[in-house]
Amino acid sequence: MVGTKIDGVLVASSVKERVRNAVSELKSRGVEPCLATILVGDNQASATYVKNKHKACADVGILTKDHKLPATTSQEEMNELLSTLNSDESIHGILVQLPLPKQLGEFETTSRISPIKDVDGLTPYNVGLLSLGKAILKACTPSGIIELFDYYKIDLEGKNVAVINRSNLLGKPLYHLLLQRNATVTTCHSKTKNLQKICHDSDIIITGVGDRTRFTLTPEMIHDGAIVIDVATTRHDEKLVGDCDFDKIIQKASFASPVPGGVGPMTIAMLLKNTVTAASLSESIVRR
Ligand code: GUN
Repeated sequence: MVGTKIDGVLVASSVKERVRNAVSELKSRGVEPCLATILVGDNQASATYVKNKHKACADVGILTKDHKLPATTSQEEMNELLSTLNSDESIHGILVQLPLPKQLGEFETTSRISPIKDVDGLTPYNVGLLSLGKAILKACTPSGIIELFDYYKIDLEGKNVAVINRSNLLGKPLYHLLLQRNATVTTCHSKTKNLQKICHDSDIIITGVGDRTRFTLTPEMIHDGAIVIDVATTRHDEKLVGDCDFDKIIQKASFASPVPGGVGPMTIAMLLKNTVTAASLSESIVRR
């Protein structure tokens, strides 16, 4: 039995349509949603991601402010820019594209973003709210994955879910979102023992390793009818690939997301959604 392809482009376009309407409503009330991005250095992949985020913003009517900083930017210079953007009332969302050059601390940098402008959900305040089940601004890729499950009516209650990633952007926030849906979550990483068995025993496998030389999720590793969400995007032989071969895994899975066209478009759609949410938050604070 061939499974169903989880179409991230389709689901992202429905999220974007809702965002477009919310942007119009905000504009009619005099609020022009605006996202500021900060890109440090000349990492080509990061530059492409940021360019795509700007394009998507323009597509739904969100303004953008583009800050490109040299690779030699000091922590002090970064902190100064963040402080300026935090106090600029015309900016509603702030995104610092990761990874950062070595001299810039990821925590030192992201924790300085004002929590109400934290469209990546990376500040300690928003991470804390997420763990308490009270977050408003949540990490984009994990919330995009939940949106995919909802669209395809995939019930998470009581499901065994293996997440192969433990990063602040993916594995950790996803753990909380899945737990809130009453899934039983196993967070796996490079030191996990018996990964093959964990995958085989799981109803849902969400994989985000991104290095085919270290890991490939093969059909032999999943059980018949399992659900596979592939979050990895890496360049391999001039092609974008995930952690598994979609054409092979879909022969055994009941649902699987392809790369490209799966989770990637959802990350951007949820960033747009968070920006509109941040603009609404700022408005309610200004009005109070
Ligand atoms: N680098 C890779 N993915 C992301 C993301 O979702 N947000 C940020 N800020 N940087 C990233």
